[in-house]
Amino acid sequence: MYITNIKNWGYLVNNENFDISHIHNDLWQIFDNEYNWRKRYIHTNYSQSLEPDALIDMPCNDVVRFPVFTELFCDHLVEEMENSGKWSAGKNKDDRISGGYENVPTVDIHMNQIGFEDVWLQFIRLYARPLQRKVFIGYKGEDTSLMNFVVRYKPTEQPLLKPHHDASTWSINIALNRIGVDFTGGGTRFVRQNCSVTDVKKGWMLMHPGRLTHYHEGLEVTSGTRYIAVSFVDP
Ligand SMILES: [Fe+2]
Repeated sequence: MYITNIKNWGYLVNNENFDISHIHNDLWQIFDNEYNWRKRYIHTNYSQSLEPDALIDMPCNDVVRFPVFTELFCDHLVEEMENSGKWSAGKNKDDRISGGYENVPTVDIHMNQIGFEDVWLQFIRLYARPLQRKVFIGYKGEDTSLMNFVVRYKPTEQPLLKPHHDASTWSINIALNRIGVDFTGGGTRFVRQNCSVTDVKKGWMLMHPGRLTHYHEGLEVTSGTRYIAVSFVDP
């Protein structure tokens, strides 16, 4: 039997490590106030995907999609990124990575540039990894997500990304805003599968293998600005 009194009696909020240097300080509270963080930022249908008889959305072969974040999370993360303004130039030369050369550059900000890497890795550990283990069964990676970043696509800057493989065993790509409202166009096309995911849903996460089978491209954003959060897990 499992008993909880959270609903009836409330709960204590741990404010010892509450950093007030950000616009949305609650985003950083995944460690100290995990219950609050989950309630505020994790999609209400998240755990349905983990149920034994869950129907998993698979828009292309071995490309799966899950609701993970609330709209509030998406808005807060985009605002933090835009507030930092640390967008890369989208060039091959990139001093942020070891070796200084990015083969497939995007206009992006790495999570660690806004001090968000630890929170993001905890999100992967707690929420993304269980979904990976459910769908791609038998694969048990460790916590080695090296590249975590938010990409900005817009017609006047970087509208698309040519076909490439990711430097990952599996990748996630989370839509942070709304097609038809915030932007038009966009999406991901998987070349070998000849299959595109264009009905992107804010707060939903695409998950797919990074190499060999899932050569893919970012489709052209034709108006507005599209934001996605991306991780290359287990390089
Ligand atoms: Fe990619």
